[in-house]
Amino acid sequence: MIEKNKAYHLGIIMDGNGRWAEGRGLSRLAGHREGAQALKKIVRACPQMQVGTLSLFAFSQANWKRDKVEVDGLWDLLREQLSIHLNELVAEGVRLRVLGDREGIPPDVVKVINDLETRSETGMNLLLNIALNYDGLDEVVRAINTTLSTGTGFNSPAFPSQLVSNLDTGPSRPVDILIRTGMPQAKDGMSIWRSSGFLPLQSVEAVCVSLETLWPDMTPLKLSEVIAYADPESRLFGGQRLAKS
Ligand code: IPE
Ligand code: IPE
Ligand code: MG
Repeated sequence: MIEKNKAYHLGIIMDGNGRWAEGRGLSRLAGHREGAQALKKIVRACPQMQVGTLSLFAFSQANWKRDKVEVDGLWDLLREQLSIHLNELVAEGVRLRVLGDREGIPPDVVKVINDLETRSETGMNLLLNIALNYDGLDEVVRAINTTLSTGTGFNSPAFPSQLVSNLDTGPSRPVDILIRTGMPQAKDGMSIWRSSGFLPLQSVEAVCVSLETLWPDMTPLKLSEVIAYADPESRLFGGQRLAKS
């Protein structure tokens, strides 16, 4: 069970669904469908892994550039998964919050998520943030505008903390570990990391982990290994490593 003071915030950029499917001669949508199955198992396992907040990058503003069949298929999959699983999640104490600009989300989906956010408000076992139509710069600009509109100017000492509270994640714990699946692994001592603009301000102190595993192959066991490997407790936050006595 979660010790509340150690309830980590995990961010996951779920990448690799397309490659998973292509490697099996399947359609990209089959990969997204398999990715949804992996997601379900991970969400269920989080409360046992000291994870109190799970933030998932599910659909970026840049993803609208994909072909219409894939884009429509992704939104249909989301509608389907919400209708199948969300009652159970609410019953299991999961609180749902959607990150991203709702103005660009199909209106029927906005209706469902508004309702689910309200119904799950009291969930205490896991805060599940799902980023839809999300872009990090867009989030920061909206948060700046909200902060200014409340009369707090750039020069106010309260500006930085109010700006952070006005991000889509609200006044929450910053990201402890940021994971991206589907990343090529180290070659000649070099390894690639790409955030694709996910949670830029919330992740400034996060430990970033790049995983070769394609998202549909991700398991709770692998996630527990990642948490142990990333060891967020060992961060120094700019401080100095103490000499061993
Ligand atoms: C990530 O998987 C899921 C979404 C962006 C919705 P991709 O679809 O980007 O998978 P790859 O990168 O093509 O393998
Ligand atoms: C990042 O994956 C966005 C999501 C996981 C939703 P992409 O596959 O869209 O990102 P890029 O193109 O590799 O940056
Ligand atoms: Mg990708």
